[in-house]
Amino acid sequence: MTPDARRSTLEAVDRIVNRESAAKDVLKKTVAVLRGRFDHYSWVGIYLVDGADLVLGPSDGPEATEHMRIPVGQGVCGAAAASGVTEIVGDVTVDERYLACFPSTRSEIVVPIAFGGRVVGEIDIDSDAPSAFDDDDRMFLERVATLVSLHVAHEAAAHSSSAGA
Ligand code: SME
Repeated sequence: MTPDARRSTLEAVDRIVNRESAAKDVLKKTVAVLRGRFDHYSWVGIYLVDGADLVLGPSDGPEATEHMRIPVGQGVCGAAAASGVTEIVGDVTVDERYLACFPSTRSEIVVPIAFGGRVVGEIDIDSDAPSAFDDDDRMFLERVATLVSLHVAHEAAAHSSSAGA
């Protein structure tokens, strides 16, 4: 991924954040932009914190995942939500925490999204390429996480109240 591609994508996400009024639309368009612009982003999803669980919000990819709800602390996703620190797994076949979603996945990055001092969600990206993610992806996606954090907090709150939690 080139610096230009990262810069123009951050600008695109910033425009989405400023133009869309509904939090769900911001998140849907953001996952579509990320997947559409980077070939190594095979599947892109945003999980929302709902109590002690992560619940899948908008996602974009060739298939739907069966992991709609993941307890915080389980899987690579749950580890990142518990620690608040980005996880990069270069080879998912040797990470014991890994919860398999797609047979084609070789590597994964999970970037927590914080708002008001707590983790409200995360960006999860699976790649069909081995070791697809590096520090450029991490820094770039952490900036995307900051841009969408208010909308993720809104969507997480809306989701947990609609679920009666
Ligand atoms: N692989 C993740 C589960 C989510 S799927 O990748 C969409 C994990 O280990 O937590």
